[in-house]
Amino acid sequence: MALVDVLAAVPPGSADEGLARRIDFDRLPRHVAVIMDGNGRWAAARHLPRVEGHRAGIESVRDTVETSARLGLQVLTLYAFSVENWKRPETEVSALMSLLRHYLRAELKTLLKNNIRFHVIGQLDRLAPEVREELEAAVTRTAGNTGMHFNIALSYGGRAEIVDAAREAVRRGLTPAQIDEDTFGSLLYTAGQPDPDLLIRTSGEMRVSNFLLWQIAYAEIWVTETLWPDFRAKHLLKGITEYQKRDRRYGAVSSDPVGALK
Ligand code: FPP
Repeated sequence: MALVDVLAAVPPGSADEGLARRIDFDRLPRHVAVIMDGNGRWAAARHLPRVEGHRAGIESVRDTVETSARLGLQVLTLYAFSVENWKRPETEVSALMSLLRHYLRAELKTLLKNNIRFHVIGQLDRLAPEVREELEAAVTRTAGNTGMHFNIALSYGGRAEIVDAAREAVRRGLTPAQIDEDTFGSLLYTAGQPDPDLLIRTSGEMRVSNFLLWQIAYAEIWVTETLWPDFRAKHLLKGITEYQKRDRRYGAVSSDPVGALK
């Protein structure tokens, strides 16, 4: 997957094509994580119920997953439902769950065709059995795929994930001397995957909202004003070009101090 695959899916001469051509495919972020936000505001602006914003957001999910796979990202993680979202009205929660099931039914073939490996991360025991079964079936069906890992964070909380990892360390009888950052990382839901290089948040909010707290330690953050239902390939491409302008120092000194001032 690379430039030709992205170009095959964008209109010739479009802004998307221009953005795709600006991407340095040798320096792609390995893992992009997205906080999909703004569905409610998108719906409110159209005098529609909130759930219509979530429904419209499905098209953005489809476009983002497909573009990420075409780009050749190793991992894409989408934040679909947080542990805090359980506090939303029951009607909204069940609408979100049924949209998710609808998405899986409609998209499983595309995930398989694109060699995408599907995972769900979060406190899955809190999900209704029929939702869990459908998710598990999609995980199993795509387990043999060797392309992009696509994580959906569902009933997910970053602090809860860290607590779960600490409990797992105790359960395995690990001694303090056996626990370091690598072993701890291997107890998280994202074990074996690279940490996000780029965290995208839509709808302009400057928060990390309990998302992948451990894993985003060195992620570059890009916030766009675009509301999630309006998010398309061109926004993802723009986020990646912005990421590629950053000087990642990991706490060290700049490799290009003059360039960093430009
Ligand atoms: C945040 O918008 C969005 C969510 C809580 C849900 C995101 C879910 C989807 C896009 C659909 C299902 C997902 C998949 C992966 C198929 P908000 O409601 O908090 O918006 P607001 O801040 O404008 O109120």
